[in-house]
Amino acid sequence: MIVGIIGSGGREHAICHALNKSKKIDKIYCFPGNAGTDAIAENINLDINKFEELKNFILSKKIKLVVIGPEKPLVDGLTDYLESFDIKVFGPSKVASQLEGSKIFTKNICKKYNIPTANFGVFNDINQAKNFLDKSNFPIVIKADNLAAGKGVYICENKDESYQAVKEIFGGKFGAAENVLIEEFLEGEEMSFFILSDGITYKNFGTAQDHKRVQEGDKGKNTGGMGAYSPSRLINEELEKKILNNIIDPTLRALKDFKSSYKGFLYAGLMIKNNEPYLIEYNVRMGDPECQTILPKLNSDLGEIIDSCCNGRLNEIKINWNDKKSICVVLCSKGYPETYQKNIEIKNINKIELNTLDHLFHAGTIKRGDVTLAVGGRVLNFVSLSDSFEESRNRIHELLNNLNWSDGFFRKDIGYKVIKK
Ligand code: AMP
Ligand code: GLY
Repeated sequence: MIVGIIGSGGREHAICHALNKSKKIDKIYCFPGNAGTDAIAENINLDINKFEELKNFILSKKIKLVVIGPEKPLVDGLTDYLESFDIKVFGPSKVASQLEGSKIFTKNICKKYNIPTANFGVFNDINQAKNFLDKSNFPIVIKADNLAAGKGVYICENKDESYQAVKEIFGGKFGAAENVLIEEFLEGEEMSFFILSDGITYKNFGTAQDHKRVQEGDKGKNTGGMGAYSPSRLINEELEKKILNNIIDPTLRALKDFKSSYKGFLYAGLMIKNNEPYLIEYNVRMGDPECQTILPKLNSDLGEIIDSCCNGRLNEIKINWNDKKSICVVLCSKGYPETYQKNIEIKNINKIELNTLDHLFHAGTIKRGDVTLAVGGRVLNFVSLSDSFEESRNRIHELLNNLNWSDGFFRKDIGYKVIKK
């Protein structure tokens, strides 16, 4: 089978790497991919927002199945569009993608189906929102409704900050805003929980903990994710049951009530307090860098799993995992998440020697001749597996020291919650 992967990050390189090992798959195209996918697939430089051009290429190359990595094309309806030309797609429909595309859509489902989440209010008028804030306790969380590339969330410590947040959101900082969402601040520890579904049944697809802040000790600005470890230290049988019964099942039921269903990866961002899960948000895709951390633990054939999902036969598949401890450390360009230089050579990259439990997944890289250039904020993902998180991280640090890229930086404390030191 010939498959296509939409996206260019570390997540998509990890998916490409897993599909490249599949017995079912003969060739992979990546749209547009990165220097990592370039080594194992054919990168096609097409704009992933131009659905018709994508479709024409996919049909011309007889691509039978498309895996969509990032949220934007999902929320914009790429699945529905390609399926209307009889192309199989692993990724949710436009209706189901509202779980990520509209925070208010998800909050309303939580309310109707009794899903544990932060208490909230929706306001369509700035003065109403301010009146509510006058009577609120702080900290409080204020969110833009629509996709904002992780930036539309404000954690406000006082009234002034909260006024500023509603002003910015209604002022159109994240696109035209009819509403703001104001919600209670949840205490606890965050966990990423994944399933995949074929629209009929679903299966668990691992847990992880991301490290979103740019500096060690979880300080500084929010980023797309500086590293992750898997499995999460928080998961246990009782918690898993509560997540499935109280959060995942009612959500999938709600989509059925909307005459929809869910096909693809679903990522529940959870806050865990006293072994009780609360939904913070859904993402309609794998996490990044969680995907790079989790996929190397998969023993089963990802091509077979995804194909069975697209054929409504997930119930026929068994998914096997190894029980190694996986860590991913993200190497970033200096300056990220603010401004950084582009087109910087990553010298020494060809000298990195990986053993069978190491992986190097590219993110913001391109290949120019024999040279690998950094073109993004998050550049490379170093992943290592072993019997202990400490050993995995030590190995990654060894690899990073060998690379010794002076234009980059990384957090040395990824996994500090599971590595006592
Ligand atoms: P979101 O884009 O909804 O995931 O929010 C981004 C980050 O803001 C989350 O990963 C949390 O760290 C934090 N956050 C969002 N909502 C809440 C909440 N109600 N209480 C505490 N932290 C929150
Ligand atoms: N790791 C956070 C995300 O993928 O949204």
